[in-house]
Amino acid sequence: MYKNSSFKVGIIGWRGMVGQVLLERFNATNGLINQAIFLFSSQTIDATSISLNAKTVSFERSDDIIALGQCDILISCQGSAYTQHMLPVLRQQGWHGYWLDAASHLRLDSKTLLVLDPINQVSIESALMNNQKTFVGPNCCTSLLLLALQGLYDKDIIQHVDTHTYQAISGAGSTQLKNYLTQIHAASTDINLDNIIQTCNQLEKNNHSLLNNVIPWVDVLSDHGATKEELKFAKEATKIHGKETPISATCVRVNALRCHSQSITLTLNKNHPLDDIKHWLSHGNTWIKLIDDDAPELLSPKPISNTLDIAVGRIRQDSYRPNVIHLFTIGDQLLWGAAEPLVRTCQMILTHLNQALGTKTDQVDCVK
Ligand SMILES: NC(=O)c1ccc[n+]([C@@H]2O[C@H](COP(=O)([O-])OP(=O)(O)OC[C@H]3O[C@@H](n4cnc5c(N)ncnc54)[C@H](OP(=O)(O)O)[C@@H]3O)[C@@H](O)[C@H]2O)c1
Repeated sequence: MYKNSSFKVGIIGWRGMVGQVLLERFNATNGLINQAIFLFSSQTIDATSISLNAKTVSFERSDDIIALGQCDILISCQGSAYTQHMLPVLRQQGWHGYWLDAASHLRLDSKTLLVLDPINQVSIESALMNNQKTFVGPNCCTSLLLLALQGLYDKDIIQHVDTHTYQAISGAGSTQLKNYLTQIHAASTDINLDNIIQTCNQLEKNNHSLLNNVIPWVDVLSDHGATKEELKFAKEATKIHGKETPISATCVRVNALRCHSQSITLTLNKNHPLDDIKHWLSHGNTWIKLIDDDAPELLSPKPISNTLDIAVGRIRQDSYRPNVIHLFTIGDQLLWGAAEPLVRTCQMILTHLNQALGTKTDQVDCVK
């Protein structure tokens, strides 16, 4: 008779944008129902403020090495600085548990695996068999682009990708979102346009306001005039695909609240019929939603927010270059772009641990 084992799963940074969505997904999928959960924060928490489908829930400080070290699995949504500081300390103290991370710090480390299971499930399973312990979620726009184009990458017909992003404010974290809402409130006390713009300008000096603004600087400048965010596409896609995947990007923050959009230009190996392109795109994975030109309202952040859908529309051949395709895609950067790959990898780890113990997990509804 099989039985479920209970493991200790710690979630660090659960109060933030990604952490909240991660908890929602674990609740929606009953992903932690049999586990002992430890919620780590730098703040003292009112325990009544959260309900989680788990065997037990405890609150701990995120600098408590002993409490962290007791967990079998730690999922960090806290950011790169925390990972950079805390993971080496834990490992040095002999902690051998699984570390799952939403931050960028370890993504290109040779000892970590980038997890996006609709694309690299086999690599994740093999890493688990090989006792790998550190798994990292890819950059949000990179995950969304790779899922949107999965059908064409599988056909091996893409030579080059150019993408221009329209990234939501929640992608910059809860502090930026709160700043933005404060700025809306401040500007909304007046209906004189000059006064509103003046208020925005004053606020911008302190907070890089998105009011009356778009910002073509996501993250800091890096090589050849590109920002770090823009360089992540090719580097991370190459690591996930295991082969050179050229992607050029311009990343722009806009004042959508949730969901990252991308305008993509694809250079293909030759001229393929547009109907074939649409067919291959639509069969890339379960979550692709091809949007017809006669339903423009569906190609917008609003219907995509808080869903796992990857919307792909405006698919058309270039007027001058028949082997060039343009399209527009939208995905929820807090789900497929951050929390979802971690939730699903956590489930794979729990299954692996139970199999190793000769036990069997409950069937969890992670797969739509
Ligand atoms: N946001 C995205 O769309 C996205 C997508 C992909 C990857 N990521 C990466 O995931 C990591 C976490 O990102 P995030 O957007 O979740 O960051 P965040 O909202 O800033 O949250 C991170 C932590 O900041 C603390 N915090 C400080 N002030 C807060 C407030 N007013 N409300 C809530 N939490 C507050 C919390 O930790 P304490 O409880 O310990 O104080 C929280 O867990 C980052 O490395 C980011 O680059 C983010």
